[in-house]
Formats: sequence, C-alpha cells, structure tokens
Amino acid sequence: MVSIITRTESVIIQDELVLRCVEPRDLAELYELIYGEDEPEWKRWDAPYYPLERVSYEHFEQNTFKRLRADEEEARPASIRVIEADGEIVGLISYYIEDSLSMWLEIGIVIYKPSRWARGIGTRALQMWSGYLFEQMPIVRVGLTTWSGNERMMRAAAKVGFQIEARLRKCRIVLGEYYDSIRMGMLREEWDQMCAIRADRNVNN
Ligand SMILES: CC(C)(COP(=O)(O)OP(=O)(O)OC[C@H]1O[C@@H](n2cnc3c(N)ncnc32)[C@H](O)[C@@H]1OP(=O)(O)O)[C@@H](O)C(=O)NCCC(=O)NCCS
Repeated sequence: MVSIITRTESVIIQDELVLRCVEPRDLAELYELIYGEDEPEWKRWDAPYYPLERVSYEHFEQNTFKRLRADEEEARPASIRVIEADGEIVGLISYYIEDSLSMWLEIGIVIYKPSRWARGIGTRALQMWSGYLFEQMPIVRVGLTTWSGNERMMRAAAKVGFQIEARLRKCRIVLGEYYDSIRMGMLREEWDQMCAIRADRNVNN
C-alpha cells in the first residue's frame, strides 16, 4: 500500500491514521479515556512513578485550551494532537519546549486503549509527528523520556530512529523494583538521512 502523508496546517494524515488538533467536541471522550477508570492500564506504563493527577472536567477543558491558546500566541504549531485510528480517538501526542533558546523540544505519546497497543500505531504516530515537527519548527533534535520497563515505548521510538542518549541507572522505582530513566533523541540530520534512504528504497521498488 502506498502511504500518503498529507500535511495541512493542523492535520497530519497517513492512510487510516490521523493526528489532528483537539476540538471542543473531543473533550468529553478524551476525559473519559484518560480518567474513566480508577486504575487505568495506560498509567502503569506512562510515568507510573508519578501518581495520576485527577482533575475535574472543567479544569481539564480549561488546561487544554490554555495550552492551545499559548501555542497560538507564540505562533507555533498546536502542541497537543488527538491520535485517531479508523475514525476513533485512541490517544494523544504532544510536544513541549524545554529550552526556547536552543529550541530543545521533547515529545510525549499515550495510546489510552490497551487493545490498540503493539499494532504499529505508536511507531507510525511518532514518525508522522517527528516529521511534522522537523518540517514546521526550527529544531535540530526531537527528544523523549521514558523508563527501562517501558520496552514498547523504547522499541517504537528506536524503530522511528531515536537513539538512547542517556540511561540514568536505577533512578525510578515501579512496583518496588528499580528501573533506569531513559532519554532518547533523534537529530535533524539523522531524520533527513532516514528519509533519503526511504525515498531511495521507494524509487528502487
Ligand atoms: C508506548 C506506546 C506509545 C507504543 O505504541 P504501540 O502502538 O503500542 O507501539 P508499536 O506497536 O508501534 O511498537 C511496539 C514495539 O514493541 C514491541 N512490543 C510489544 N509489546 C512488548 C513487550 N511487552 N515488551 C517488549 N516489546 C514489546 C512490539 O512487538 C513492537 O515492536 P516490533 O514492531 O519490532 O515487533 C503505546 O504502547 C502506549 O501508549 N502505551 C501506554 C502509555 C505509554 O507507555 N506511553 C509512553 C510513555 S513514555
């Protein structure tokens, strides 16, 4: 199947997978996905060493739009996007700027439904998001932080081209066990090189 990535100002599309801006109509569904269960499975993997901070729906709504307004005021792309697969909201993907002088940018991803894990959505969403960010922003690197117990995250990021840049040993405790904090990153030139290799392959196939 030929993958066509369409990028308009706010929508990134690859076949049945869409990364798009959060709309007011999404908020109730997102709130349910994030906070609907007492002990959600996704939180066992997404920074499980921090408790899930439960907020009211109004707070969630205000926070989301505050963040999007700030992006608009700073004239940068919306920093939080819904991940939609086959027309269904499955997660969120985001970025934040750690240092605006160097444009040090970090990304985050959560697919809230375990039934959607390990089917390639995370890898593709990370790839689409990284490409979009390199295209839209004057950044030289995309980074992400995880922990050594989250092998799915590390594997998905590695498939996109992220390298482990730092392993801080025994910095996290999850269910009584020590794990390493893992910092991964990909430089613009590495991304460009991978795109060139992919383009070559497509020409030769
Ligand atoms: C982490 C996450 C975004 C990855 O997305 P995904 O769609 O599940 O990942 P993919 O299917 O694209 O890739 C996962 C890879 O890990 C492998 N994998 C799956 N389960 C695994 C396991 N238990 N241990 C090791 N590897 C595993 C898969 O086989 C696949 O590799 P492969 O294609 O070489 O076979 C998603 O699982 C998720 O949101 N999890 C919950 C929240 C979370 O952990 N967020 C990240 C916080 S840093």
